[in-house]
Amino acid sequence: MSTSPALRAPPRSFAHPEGIPGRAVGALLRRFNSGLNRAAVARLDPRPGERVLEIGFGPGHALELLSRRAGASGVAGIDPSQLMVRAAERRNRTRPPEERVEVRRGRAEQLPWDPATFSAVLTVNNLLFWEPPEAGLSEVRRVLKPGGRVLVAFHSTAARRLLATKGDPLDQLATLLGPWLRRVGLEPGPPEKVPTWSGAGLLFPATRSLA
Ligand SMILES: C[S@@+](CC[C@H](N)C(=O)[O-])C[C@H]1O[C@@H](n2cnc3c(N)ncnc32)[C@H](O)[C@@H]1O
Repeated sequence: MSTSPALRAPPRSFAHPEGIPGRAVGALLRRFNSGLNRAAVARLDPRPGERVLEIGFGPGHALELLSRRAGASGVAGIDPSQLMVRAAERRNRTRPPEERVEVRRGRAEQLPWDPATFSAVLTVNNLLFWEPPEAGLSEVRRVLKPGGRVLVAFHSTAARRLLATKGDPLDQLATLLGPWLRRVGLEPGPPEKVPTWSGAGLLFPATRSLA
């Protein structure tokens, strides 16, 4: 359910992937969003030793890319879908302990970590499901260390489906995101549009000030 007139209710199987439809959606997302996930992780640029969180990891492609860059023991992910969490736990069981990411079931609006835990937070095709987006962003700010960075990424197809406004969906999303970020005390950086094989994506960075 959306809480802003600018947003549409998301398709259930994408916002809450469970059961057989959820499995099909997971396989589709993994393929369709691979280019955007790669671009988003490259832009966030997590460094070895940093603690990094991904919110709404879904089929887990970006979690894997993050763990290759930051070192798996520094990476955590949270998602409310039991299906996605179980799949991530299964993948963890096939890895040696030092290569396991921390997986939690939960929502952006209530993150189960202490203040100032992470150096960087990533969220891909996700923030428009938060109820409302500012509640999740406020939690992102809380768990970020001073000077920490966040990257919000969205695919044009997902943004078009979720925004009730006309025009370029990525421009519309960037217009909404700037004020949302500022309202919770995050400083927006310059948004960037990137081409991917499946369309286009928005990369919108922001930072928590050092104060
Ligand atoms: C469309 S999928 C995107 C998955 C992945 N990030 C990608 O781009 O391929 C959306 C994911 O967000 C999760 N989700 C939905 N509401 C959420 C919330 N309030 N907080 C965190 N994750 C949420 C869903 O369970 C689902 O796994």
